[in-house]
Amino acid sequence: MTRHTTRLSTILAATTLASVGAANAQAQTTDGANNVMPWAYVLNDPVPDDAPTPDPNEVVTVPNSPLRIPRSEININNGPPDWHPDAHPPMPPVVATGGGDGVVACGYCHLPNGQGKPENASVAGQPYEYIVQQMTDWRNGLRKTGEPRMGPPSFMERIGLAATDAEARVAAEYFSSMPFRQWVRVVETDEVPRTKFAGWIHEVLEGAGTEPIGSRIVETPEDIERTKLRDDATGFIAYVPTGSVARGEAKTQGCTVCHGPGLRGLGPVPALAGRSPSYMARQLYDFQTGVRNGAWSDLMDAAVEDLSLDDIVDIVAYTASLAP
Ligand code: HEC
Ligand code: HEC
Repeated sequence: MTRHTTRLSTILAATTLASVGAANAQAQTTDGANNVMPWAYVLNDPVPDDAPTPDPNEVVTVPNSPLRIPRSEININNGPPDWHPDAHPPMPPVVATGGGDGVVACGYCHLPNGQGKPENASVAGQPYEYIVQQMTDWRNGLRKTGEPRMGPPSFMERIGLAATDAEARVAAEYFSSMPFRQWVRVVETDEVPRTKFAGWIHEVLEGAGTEPIGSRIVETPEDIERTKLRDDATGFIAYVPTGSVARGEAKTQGCTVCHGPGLRGLGPVPALAGRSPSYMARQLYDFQTGVRNGAWSDLMDAAVEDLSLDDIVDIVAYTASLAP
C-alpha cells in the first residue's frame, strides 16, 4: 500500500500560497484546488461540438410528481421546479424564487428540500445558528473557495455577499426545520465506472468500462436524468476506496467532541453524518489552506492541520457512510 504523507499545506505552499496568503487577497484564477483534488473541485470537460441539445419544448416529469412541465422550465434560477411540494414545508420566497439583487433562489441549487448536491451542499437539518453564521461569513468575505474556477462555490460567494441578514435568517429557519435524510449511498470498491465531468459533477460514461479508483472519491447521481431535472427525491452514489470507511472511523475519534455522537451535530456545530463526501472534502481543504476563515473556523485548525490527501479521502468516506 502506498500512502501519501504530503501535507496539503506543503502542496499549497508550492502552488497557491503566494496568492491566498495576503489578507483578503483575491483567490487565484489558475492553479486552484482542482489541481490537488480534481474529484472534489470539479471543472467541466469541454463540451463536444456535436453534443445533442435536448428539445426545450419536450414535456418532462419525474416519478411520483404531479408536475408536468416543458424542459425549458427546469433551469430557472429564480423559480426552479418544485416536483414534490407535499414533501417539505411551504418554501419562503427567498428559497423558492430568490430575494433582492443577486440573491438567487436557494432551492435552485440546494433543492427545495435542502438535500443538496455534490457541487453545492446539503443544508437541511443544519443548526439555525450555524446557517446564519455561514451567511455572515460570506457577507464579510471570510468564506472563500479554493477553486474559483468551479462555478457553484464562486456563485455561492456572490449570493452570500448579496443576501441580507433578514434573508439569511428566513432561509436558515426553513432549512433547519427539516430533517436531513439519507442521501448518499457509499460503495467501497477498487474499480469505478469511467466518468466525465459535466454540470460540475462526475457523470458515468455509459459502456466505457471501469478504471482503478486510486485515492479519490467518485460521487455521481443514482439517476443522472432525474438529477438533471432537479428532482429532489433522488440521491447519489459515492464510490470510495476499499477500506477507507474503517480507516476514516479511526481518524475521526476526536471529532465527536464538537460534532456530537455519530457526527450528527451538536448545538451550533454542523452535522457531518451522511453528507456529500465531495463537499466535505472541499471544506477540509479550504479550512487547511485558510480560504475558509469564518468566525468559527479557528475551531477546526487543529483538526485539519496535519491531514494528508489520503486522510481526507478516508474521513469523508466514513462521514458519508454514517446515518444522518
Ligand atoms: C448557484 C447555486 C447556489 C444557490 C442559488 C445557493 N447556494 Fe448555497 N451553496 C452553494 C454551493 C456551491 C455551496 C458549497 C460551497 C463550497 O463547496 O465551498 C453552498 C453552501 C451553502 C451553505 C453552507 C452549508 C454548510 O454546511 O456550511 C449555506 C448555509 C448556504 N449555501 C445557504 C444558501 C442560502 C441561504 C441560499 C439562498 C439565499 C443559497 N445558499 C443559494 C450554491 C448555491
Ligand atoms: C473544537 C471543536 C471541533 C473539533 C474537534 C472538530 N470540529 Fe469540525 N467544525 C467545528 C466548527 C465550529 C465548525 C464550523 C466552522 C465554521 O463555521 O467555519 C466545523 C466545521 C466542520 C466541517 C465543515 C462542515 C460544513 O457543513 O461545511 C467539517 C467537514 C468538519 N468540521 C470536519 C471535522 C472533522 C473530520 C473533525 C475531526 C478530525 C472535526 N471537524 C473536529 C468544530 C470542530
